[in-house]
Amino acid sequence: MEIYFDNAATSHPKPPEVLRAVEEALTEYNANPGRSGHARALAAGRVVLSTREALAHLLGAEDPMRIVFGFNCTDMLNLAIKGSLKRGDHVVSSMLEHNSVLRVLGELERRGQISTTLVAPRADGAVDPEDIRRAIRRNTRLVVLTHASNVTGAIQPVAAVGALCQEIGVRYLIDGAQALGAMPVNVRALRCDLYAFPGHKSLLGPQGTGGLYIAPGCTLNTLREGGTGSSSDSMLQPTELPERYEAGTVNLPGLAGLGAGVKHVASRLTQIMIRERELTSAIWEELSNIQGVEIYSPRQEAARAGIVSFNLGDLSSSQAADALDRSGIAVRGGLHCAPGTHRLLGTVRRGAVRVSVGNENSFDEIDAFIKAVREMI
Ligand code: ALA
Repeated sequence: MEIYFDNAATSHPKPPEVLRAVEEALTEYNANPGRSGHARALAAGRVVLSTREALAHLLGAEDPMRIVFGFNCTDMLNLAIKGSLKRGDHVVSSMLEHNSVLRVLGELERRGQISTTLVAPRADGAVDPEDIRRAIRRNTRLVVLTHASNVTGAIQPVAAVGALCQEIGVRYLIDGAQALGAMPVNVRALRCDLYAFPGHKSLLGPQGTGGLYIAPGCTLNTLREGGTGSSSDSMLQPTELPERYEAGTVNLPGLAGLGAGVKHVASRLTQIMIRERELTSAIWEELSNIQGVEIYSPRQEAARAGIVSFNLGDLSSSQAADALDRSGIAVRGGLHCAPGTHRLLGTVRRGAVRVSVGNENSFDEIDAFIKAVREMI
């Protein structure tokens, strides 16, 4: 039996309707959406629009056209960050960010284009909005904050930071990689200008899909230019959304699957959130009863996404993850592409074992996992 506890890396299994939607896209309406005017292409265009509409609804966005699609969350974070900044700008972010933010900022710094301040979280794993306020300078153009740490699951005060960014007048980007589809998100309540998300995690869509919500009044420089099927006589990228940021053919099968995933999640979001919290709490409690286990995720269930990270005795996280794999349990060890968080936890050398649940996991699987951990100890 395989037990899949690596949903923070990509969700598995995908609902049957996602698989069907991908197949239908490649058979029944396989054509280029938004280009040719024949019936098949129009049908493909309608499916992409339907995914945009489902996402706009899930996010509480003003207009489906404000949801733009790309390859993954990293791609969308690159667009949001590089598209917002010019030489001399300052960025405030946190040490909890994934390399999809840290490396983008690091590269812009290396080129001498921007400066960055990374705020450390408090002992409870969440940043203090007042620390973000204190880090803001006269030339701060952008604040970037993860909605939930991909290492500890700690949920960040994204609404409070949104309120302060609005008060100060600084652009605000949230990395929703571990949040959208796992908890309610309303971009207007969060007062963010940009919200980036992957399609293949809690939204249950295929890999190769990601999206970015862009608030009214927020304009980005483009990172890619090319065909959009509109204003084709102009050598300049159109200004209209979503075409401005979607050069080239979109991932039709991926977006069709994503649409089915979003509809699946939206119709049962509260149930998913409760279930994942219960599963995560059971893992946290059971692990905390085992001597030699050190847990890095918050104890309070409302303070974390469906992630529990830990280490076992003297084992490195890869030794532990490999041993679990031999018992048929899929987890992720190592640094999870988030070195700042591991620096704070003191786990840069050994990493941590990350268990991340999905709605389809069961308490029996948790029992089997705990048994395997006890055997390892
Ligand atoms: N960013 C994904 C993770 O945290 C891949 O595992």
